Amino acid sequence: MELYQVQILAFAALICCTSSAYGWGVDGHLITCRLAQPRLSKATADAVSQLLPAYADDDLGSVCSWADQVRFRYRWSSALHYIDTPDNLCSYLYKRDCKDEDGIQDRCVAGAIYNYTNQLLSYGNGNSQYNLTEALLFLSHFIGDIHQPLHVGFTSDKGGNTIDVDWYTTKTVLHHVWDVSIIETAEERFYDSNVDELINKLQTNITTVWANQAKAWEACSKTACPDAYATEGIKAACDWAYKGVSNSSVLEDDYFLSRYPVVNMRLAQGGVRLAATLNRIFG
Ligand code: ADE
Ligand code: ZN
Ligand code: ZN
Repeated sequence: MELYQVQILAFAALICCTSSAYGWGVDGHLITCRLAQPRLSKATADAVSQLLPAYADDDLGSVCSWADQVRFRYRWSSALHYIDTPDNLCSYLYKRDCKDEDGIQDRCVAGAIYNYTNQLLSYGNGNSQYNLTEALLFLSHFIGDIHQPLHVGFTSDKGGNTIDVDWYTTKTVLHHVWDVSIIETAEERFYDSNVDELINKLQTNITTVWANQAKAWEACSKTACPDAYATEGIKAACDWAYKGVSNSSVLEDDYFLSRYPVVNMRLAQGGVRLAATLNRIFG
């Protein structure tokens, strides 16, 4: 093979394979973190500012996809992005479902949220035994992931990763439609391909039409409440993501227009709850 062919292949692999099967895409995570940051209390904002790496320049959104970038380097972390539940049951139970493919308990996105919350509670105790910068980046990412309905999906199809679909004229898998395609299509169609405009719109909705609900989204009698989010997630997966879809389904306007509001709501809930959780930790 000629060098230029190798380069083209390497470039194609980069383009094709960088969008992940491990969470919302980059924009989904950017949106949850950008929604969360202005809602932080002063004490929380100070702690976050201390913990963020210098290159983040105090912008949580800029590092919200870090956990996806390290998923190969930190192979152990890959099971922490999702929960697999029994096929078609449409329910979630921590004890039954929060384990990895080898059956090791607590290795799922809800377990990871509890773990990194606990680590971050040691902030201010002097010499913490943990890397609290990584804990903050993991927690901010995983609270986003648990709000992606197919990150709490069925076991046999790996949260829709093995369900082939056409998104309009493009071949993809159902999981990717929910990580990336719905958000991307909404940005193109309604927001001039500008993610900041989508963020502004959600921000406004949170303080107006969703203001009452947003109060309820924050409620949590412990420091972190991932089990409630996972239960909502598998219900949304059954009611919206999987509904009417099978292998080789063609998904277009009917699906996009009815599911886009669900994605908007989950992104908003993720942002509000990330802020509320950080405020409970550092408050
Ligand atoms: N791998 C297995 N199940 C998964 C899920 N629900 N989401 C992402 N990756 C997975
Ligand atoms: Zn992820
Ligand atoms: Zn994903």
